[in-house]
Amino acid sequence: MKLLIMGPPGAGKGTQAEKIVKEFGITHISTGDMFRAALKNQTPLGLKAKEYMDKGELVPDEIVIAMVEERISAPDCAKGFLLDGFPRTIPQAEALDKKLSEMGITLDGVINIEVPREELIERLTGRRVCRQCGATYHVKFNPPKVEGVCDACGGELYQRSDDSLETVSNRLDVYEAQTAPLKDYYAKTGLLKNIDGTKSIEEVFVSIKNALQK
Ligand code: AP5
Ligand code: ZN
Repeated sequence: MKLLIMGPPGAGKGTQAEKIVKEFGITHISTGDMFRAALKNQTPLGLKAKEYMDKGELVPDEIVIAMVEERISAPDCAKGFLLDGFPRTIPQAEALDKKLSEMGITLDGVINIEVPREELIERLTGRRVCRQCGATYHVKFNPPKVEGVCDACGGELYQRSDDSLETVSNRLDVYEAQTAPLKDYYAKTGLLKNIDGTKSIEEVFVSIKNALQK
């Protein structure tokens, strides 16, 4: 199974991606997570990406495309993969098409999660992430059993630096201008599955599984 998951910041891509990769036994490729891991290790790639991420801007296409082309060719992607947060621009989508066709692979589905802007702001500003395993929580919608502590691994929860109100607003504007046009791009391929992301985390997951069976 080769899938894409898209949607605005805070739509629940990462939350659903964790469940989807477990269900289908495929590899999770999140460009945002890859940049955050690179930054943690203080690599040149991570430091470069941080300049853009902190402002809520997109990292330049050539950097992201090169990173994904390498990642998707790794052995653990042969069993299938879920791309999360890539592509985010038309040139990225075109580069992906080219790479997949060179590899002789076709996508099985594109999941697009829709959530209105006001709710996205509440979700992002209340999000907490585990420093150790990356699991995602929300102070109100999905709180951990013990405040500030990850249920899964006991790690410390923190707030992402790009989840401040100011940066969140810019990320949503950037999404509308640069990423939303991809909905038309993938609608034309017949692969697009529009999912109502306002339901509970479990209900959204059920809708995704149903949509993929059609
Ligand atoms: P990235 O890490 O991809 O961030 P994003 O797209 O902004 O998405 P988020 O991770 O913020 O949200 P999500 O949809 O995964 O939501 P989540 O599941 O956490 O990218 C970060 C930055 O990296 C970009 O701004 C850019 O600079 C750069 N970058 C990355 N990829 C790039 C690319 N391809 N090109 C260029 N630059 C790139 O959920 C959010 C919150 O809501 C959580 O607290 C969760 O618990 C809660 N929640 C989830 N589902 C529900 C529900 N159903 N009901 C109630 N609450 C829910
Ligand atoms: Zn954890």
